[in-house]
Amino acid sequence: MSDKDSRIEDFGDKIIDGKKIAAFIESSLKEKIDYLKNNGIVPCIYVILIGDNPASVIYVRNKENAANRCGIMSKKIVLPVNISENELLNKINELNDDSLVHGILVQLPIPPHIDENKIMEAISSNKDVDGFHPFNEGKIFTGNSSFYPCTPFGIVKMLDYSNIELKGKNVVIIGQSIIVGKPLSIMLMNRNATVSALNIYTNNIRCWTNMADILISATGKAHLINESFVKDGCVVVDVGIAKLDGKICGDVDFDSVIKKVSKITPVPGGVGPVTVAVLMENTVNAALQFLSNS
Ligand code: GUN
Repeated sequence: MSDKDSRIEDFGDKIIDGKKIAAFIESSLKEKIDYLKNNGIVPCIYVILIGDNPASVIYVRNKENAANRCGIMSKKIVLPVNISENELLNKINELNDDSLVHGILVQLPIPPHIDENKIMEAISSNKDVDGFHPFNEGKIFTGNSSFYPCTPFGIVKMLDYSNIELKGKNVVIIGQSIIVGKPLSIMLMNRNATVSALNIYTNNIRCWTNMADILISATGKAHLINESFVKDGCVVVDVGIAKLDGKICGDVDFDSVIKKVSKITPVPGGVGPVTVAVLMENTVNAALQFLSNS
C-alpha cells in the first residue's frame, strides 16, 4: 500500500482526497464532451514544453493522461531550451489561428531569456485555459472570468466539495505567485474570506499562521509547516511539491500537523490531481465557447 493510501486509511475523516475530487470533476465533463462531439467538435489542448525540466515533464505527462481519460485531444510540442522568444511567439500565433485548437498552455517556468508576460499575453484570451492572460486575470477581480487559473480554482473547489465555509474565515496564504497566491487571494476575497497574503519578507509567519482558520501554503519548501504553525481545528491546504530523502512531499509536515488539523490535503494526491482536472474543465469550456461563437 502506498503512503497516500495508508494515510487515507488512518486519517480518512481528515483527508481532503484530491484524487476522488478530480475523478468527480472529470466524470462531470462527460456530458459536455459528448455534446461537443455530437456537434463535430473534439476538445483539443496544446501543451508547449520548453526544455526538459524533470518536474515540468511529469506535470505535462499528467495533463496528457487526464486528457486521454476524458476524451480530450491533447498535443505536446517540445521546444529546445534555447528557442528564441520570436520563434515561440510564432508557434503560439499559429495555434491561435488554428480553429481546431481550443486551449493553449505554455508550461512554466520558461527560460529566463523569454519574457513570460509577453508569452501569456500572446495566447488568445479565448484559448487561455491556464487563466494567465491579463484580460482573464483582470476579470478575476469581478468574479466573471471565463478561465480561472487551475490551481486556485481547484483549491476553491476542494474547499467547497468538503463543505468548508469561506465567508468570515481567516485565510492565510503563504506564497504570492501569479500561479497560485495572487489569484487565490482575490478569489477568496470574492467569497468574503478575510485573506492575509504572506511572502518571503513577512516577519514571524507563525504569528499569522496561528490565527488561520484555513492555512494555504504554496512555497515549494519541503516541510516548512509543522504543528507549531497551526491552531487546533485548522484546515490545511498544501500546494507545495518537493522531494525530501527521495520521497515526494509538500510544504506541510503531515505527521506533525495531523493531530491538530480538522482537514488537510495530502501530498501527493491532494491539490495536484484537482489542478489537472480543472485544466480539463477549462479546455472543455473553451471548446463550448468556440461552438457557441461559431
Ligand atoms: N507550472 C506550475 N504550475 C503551472 C500551471 O498551473 N500552469 C502552467 N502553465 N505552468 C505551471
